[in-house]
Amino acid sequence: MSRIAYVNGRYLPLRDASVNVEDRGYQFSDGVYEVCEVRGGKLIDERRHMERLRHSLGELRIAIPMEPQALSVVFHEVVRRNRIRWGIVYLQITRGVSRRDHAFPPAGTRPSVVVTARNMDFTAAEKLAGDGIAVITVPENRWERVDIKSVSLLPNVLAKQAAREQGAKEAWFVDKSGHVTEGSSSNAWIVTRDGKVITRQVDHGILKGITRTVVLEVMAQQGLKLEERAFTLEEAHAAREAFVTSASQIVMPVVRIDGRPVGNGAPGLIASALRRDFHQFAEQS
Ligand code: PDD
Repeated sequence: MSRIAYVNGRYLPLRDASVNVEDRGYQFSDGVYEVCEVRGGKLIDERRHMERLRHSLGELRIAIPMEPQALSVVFHEVVRRNRIRWGIVYLQITRGVSRRDHAFPPAGTRPSVVVTARNMDFTAAEKLAGDGIAVITVPENRWERVDIKSVSLLPNVLAKQAAREQGAKEAWFVDKSGHVTEGSSSNAWIVTRDGKVITRQVDHGILKGITRTVVLEVMAQQGLKLEERAFTLEEAHAAREAFVTSASQIVMPVVRIDGRPVGNGAPGLIASALRRDFHQFAEQS
């Protein structure tokens, strides 16, 4: 079965799904995106993803091309047409097509909208969560507005590639003061020896992960102690547990940081419990 993409109002086989070479997403990374988990054919936390999309578009002054209800219809249709049970749906909105000029295109230029979806291997993801992943660390070298979910992801691409080349699944950015900000495509968490869960506060320096927001709700219900603050790499190395969160990985235990085992080197109890209970708190549509 050929995969189907939505491109500016049309559902097309992936091989025919293309955008103009003068699309500003292609030429300037002038666009934003969202990734939503699909589970049992349902979208997870669509409403919160739409809220964050509105934030990203607003900060970049890109016009909202479709009402959330219309976008929701497209999401569900792309999921249905691709017969996604377990996977992700990807949305990208750019400032549209215009003769190349750094400044904004003429008023009225229509943003480009692309939606794709793909299956993920549920069994493989569960196995990975059972084993835990390794992370490496890299210097934070991104711009100061990473709260905007922009498609401009070069530092993240290079960080992830560095991780791959070192046999790890994720790279954590560490800022000049020695504090971990977040992963190349996930939020970063640790659990201290005395059982406190720590994740960086949200401001312009990290993406406000939707999974992060829901995990905070799960934690409150489980009665876990939370500190929302930046943690240092030293604290991470001394931690009892570590994990990352993202729409595509939910809660993923981290068992090695820069080659050193975290805790006893196995997935932690808290990370595993958060992963187990996550979908009781997430919205499904
Ligand atoms: N990444 N931080 C960064 C830099 C991210 O790219 C992501 C998500 C997150 C977690 O956000 P959320 O919980 O809303 O997925 C944090 C997506 C999944 C991606 O780029 O594929």
